[in-house]
Amino acid sequence: MSSRILVTGGAGFIGANFVHQTVRERPDAAVTVLDALTYAGDERSLAPVSGRVRLVQGDVADAALVDRLVAESDLVVHFAAESHNDNSLHDPTPFVHTNVIGTFTLLEAVRRHDVRYHHISTDEVYGDLELDDPAKFTPTTPYNPSSPYSSTKASSDLLVRAWVRSFGVRATISNCSNNYGPYQHVEKFIPRQITNVVDGVRPKLYGTGANVRDWIHVEDHNAAVWAIVDHGRIGETYLIGADGECDNRTVVETILELMGQSADAYDLVNDRPGHDLRYAIDASKLRDELGWTPRYRDFRSGLEATIGWYRDNEAWWRPQKDATEQKYAQLGR
Ligand code: NAD
Ligand code: DAU
Repeated sequence: MSSRILVTGGAGFIGANFVHQTVRERPDAAVTVLDALTYAGDERSLAPVSGRVRLVQGDVADAALVDRLVAESDLVVHFAAESHNDNSLHDPTPFVHTNVIGTFTLLEAVRRHDVRYHHISTDEVYGDLELDDPAKFTPTTPYNPSSPYSSTKASSDLLVRAWVRSFGVRATISNCSNNYGPYQHVEKFIPRQITNVVDGVRPKLYGTGANVRDWIHVEDHNAAVWAIVDHGRIGETYLIGADGECDNRTVVETILELMGQSADAYDLVNDRPGHDLRYAIDASKLRDELGWTPRYRDFRSGLEATIGWYRDNEAWWRPQKDATEQKYAQLGR
């Protein structure tokens, strides 16, 4: 079952970790990665599995290419996206292209060839929660996205739901919270602060640092994706989260402490426009129906391992660092 797997965005952070995990745990799988190798994609993230994976450089919105690759597959797992909120505020154009048109292109191909499809999405489609609200997102929370990024992801989810209902496409959707772990681009919060500290630069907190994210290790996200692909019900949405709520200030203070710095050695910088306050996932459907549980339960030790990975793999992230910080400098962040 599902032996020929097309992974879109497999040279990005979560996709590359998914490919590593799949090659490690499913020796019979034949994995093809379709990735445009944008600024966020890096062929070197697939180096540990290079002999086991075919990498096709191309655009998920290229209908002819996508049709050919989908026709050769038993399963498509769609990670490819423009993924960074700050970039979407600067220029939404590639977000509409990749996240909306790209998903539409894949859906049309899986419809034509009757191929099983899993759609990777985000908790940000639900908007945000108040800091002092005990509520969490559930699969019935109304969509209410805030940013160009999250609104294009919400659009893509709605396309999937419609293609299931109208055309009988065999699809599932997962909406996951904030991931951390190896191979994450240095534009994102945790790797940005770790690499800043390595460089002797003070971490940068947006606003007051009170915003809360629900952190999950990327390996736990990907294990949940496999549980849904293997045992999820077609047409269903599963929320993925590991009860990892933490405010940004605490994350930065923990990174500083684990890296041998004073916990207050950070700066408050301009806030992100429209900055979502808090995300929190209720993953009980995933846990109860599919028996999934996270393996990385201790965020502090997960962070420590992630710091170790960035310390040991400077050659991987160093080429991205200057350009990323130049972009932030223009935003005063
Ligand atoms: P990422 O930015 O690290 O990687 C995205 C990958 O997609 C890159 O390799 C890039 O080259 C590729 N790509 C971009 N445009 C493409 C196109 N037009 N055609 C083909 N490939 C293209 O992103 P990520 O953080 O790994 O996120 C992967 C998926 O998971 C996204 O769909 C994102 O919305 C979702 N997600 C991310 C998180 C998170 O915390 N990072 C949480 C929940 C969901
Ligand atoms: O919730 C899932 C989403 O998590 C994914 O869908 C997105 O693809 C992913 O990028 C992430 O979105 P966020 O906007 O939450 O992640 P980011 O790493 O950009 O920021 C995390 C928090 O840290 C957020 O509250 C903004 C803040 N931040 C970020 C940066 C880069 C800072 O305070 N300082 C920073 O330098």
